Amino acid sequence: MSQRVFNFSAGPATLPLPVLEASAAALVDYKGKGVGIAEVSHRGAEFKEVLAETEQRCRQLMGISDDYAVLFLQGGATQQFDLVPMNLLQNRAQYIVSGQWAKKAAAAAKAHGSTEVIADSQDQQFSVLPSGYTVDPQADYLHICSNNTIFGTRFSAFPDHPCLVADMSSEIMGRVIDVNRFGVIYAGAQKNLGPSGVVLVIIRRDLLDKAPDTLSPIFRYKAHADNESCLNTPPTFGIYVLLETFRWLEAQGGIAAVEQVNEAKAALLYEAIDGSGGFYTGTVTDHPNRSRMNVTYVLPNEDLTTAFLKRAAAEGLVALKGYRSVGGIRASIYNAMPMAGVEKLVALMKDFQASA
Ligand SMILES: Cc1ncc(COP(=O)(O)O)c(C=O)c1O
Repeated sequence: MSQRVFNFSAGPATLPLPVLEASAAALVDYKGKGVGIAEVSHRGAEFKEVLAETEQRCRQLMGISDDYAVLFLQGGATQQFDLVPMNLLQNRAQYIVSGQWAKKAAAAAKAHGSTEVIADSQDQQFSVLPSGYTVDPQADYLHICSNNTIFGTRFSAFPDHPCLVADMSSEIMGRVIDVNRFGVIYAGAQKNLGPSGVVLVIIRRDLLDKAPDTLSPIFRYKAHADNESCLNTPPTFGIYVLLETFRWLEAQGGIAAVEQVNEAKAALLYEAIDGSGGFYTGTVTDHPNRSRMNVTYVLPNEDLTTAFLKRAAAEGLVALKGYRSVGGIRASIYNAMPMAGVEKLVALMKDFQASA
């Protein structure tokens, strides 16, 4: 195999090599049965065993009680922007718009009922988390995006609401959270969990009955929960990769241990940015809410940015280009990015600055 690079892609993103290797082996031959895991029925014994273990390990890792259903669905996080209001919006919902994905979620919900954006930081180019809002506990739910993949902010502390709904696509299992504070958590898998095509939905069971009777089963969380994610054919191979990721996470010591490494990786990178005397400038000014997953910064001009990216790629540090509306650099340092990758990036940043 060719040498693996350090892949800083925002998503689909780097996965741990043991996860890829175990998944590749199971794709060809599952447990020596002469058939790959993607080739068996989702209703057969092999896949049922995979699904049950995936759910059990997910519950164990995140401390999810039986009060919650754990679903593995299709349609990505974007589909949840509609499914959440279709299932939960009866009177009015509140949204905090802290970035592009939160904005899309709020826009999608409008088609399904009355919504209110209680805070929006777009006028500050989403370089800060919005503040100074009033949460209404009477609203059906409050929707947030816990980590803003594009702009590099995160909620270091979560607002309180009896039904807090969070898009955690870009930090799921990257930090310890108390699931009991949430009504719904959803996350596209393709950053911290596995390949695209699977979305993890964790939903408090009392919310399952809120959907109108007219809602088709395929859009209804309760139908998916009643059928244990097998209402129709689930993304079977993707779910298998999640299982391997969960095994890997446990081998690392669980989410708390991984979070410590994530904190150390992010601190090293932010120190390099802040200590560069203004050569590198972090695009997030709200330091307490800087993302631990997506670190965004700019160089003094476009030419230097292009030269930096070129040199980084030559040294095996890839997919560092910032999102088009932000520019500069975005280093996505999800769970699977080892400290060695961040150390190599920081060394390059120092060397590049010295030679610029
Ligand atoms: C925070 C967040 N929410 C939603 C999405 C959209 O996910 P999907 O492409 O799976 O619909 C993304 C994609 O990067 C994201 O980062």
